[in-house]
Amino acid sequence: MNFKQQAGIAAANLVQSGMGVGLGTGSTVFFALERLAERQKTENLKFFGVSTSFSTTLLCRKMGIELKDCSSISHLDLAIDGADEIDPNLNLIKGRGAAHLLEKIVASLASKLVIVADSAKKVKNLGEKFPVPLEIMPAALGLTEARIKSLGGTLEIRMAGASKDGPVISDSGNIIADAKLGLIKDPVALCKELDYIPGLAGHGLFIGLAKEAFIAGEAGVECIVSNASIIL
Ligand code: A5P
Repeated sequence: MNFKQQAGIAAANLVQSGMGVGLGTGSTVFFALERLAERQKTENLKFFGVSTSFSTTLLCRKMGIELKDCSSISHLDLAIDGADEIDPNLNLIKGRGAAHLLEKIVASLASKLVIVADSAKKVKNLGEKFPVPLEIMPAALGLTEARIKSLGGTLEIRMAGASKDGPVISDSGNIIADAKLGLIKDPVALCKELDYIPGLAGHGLFIGLAKEAFIAGEAGVECIVSNASIIL
């Protein structure tokens, strides 16, 4: 069993019948979905999910996981999601898959956001490996670029590649770009700066949102809760 699968399974095992569960996006969440679908069959687990992307919605349809529309939900018991970088305080960079805005909305609906990842995602400081993904309303592209420049960074529009000409467009119809800001020494301050940019619909800094993380590596699945850490 690979590390992502171990982490996904550990988080899926937290789900109890009757829960509303936010379902994140990405290759690690895939394994959580697989486990949840299995538990529906083998344990008669009954829950509903709220999806964070078309990608996850399609997987849930295939796996027979019931979904409710995010706009009709005001509270979830749990959200399970992946991350691109995880610092020691469980602050995160998310958005490699361009789902970070919906992921943040769903995470904010949940009493508890649980992160699933392999140990390669652990960093000392955010920004070590990844830029900060942004989701920008088209009209705010120039403004966002100027503000990122004034923060000492550069903005790179994410291009779709071979399957589409032009930029990556989010599931909500906005432009996806990446802000290269180097090592992030003060994630809270940067988060506030980004939150102030009008028309910047969302960014991939998740500060203080994750309550728990299952991080799988050579030593097993490490469960990090706030500042406490145990090996399962
Ligand atoms: C989606 O936009 C992202 O936030 C993912 O949750 C994140 O990139 C983790 O994905 P993997 O589990 O595929 O690494």
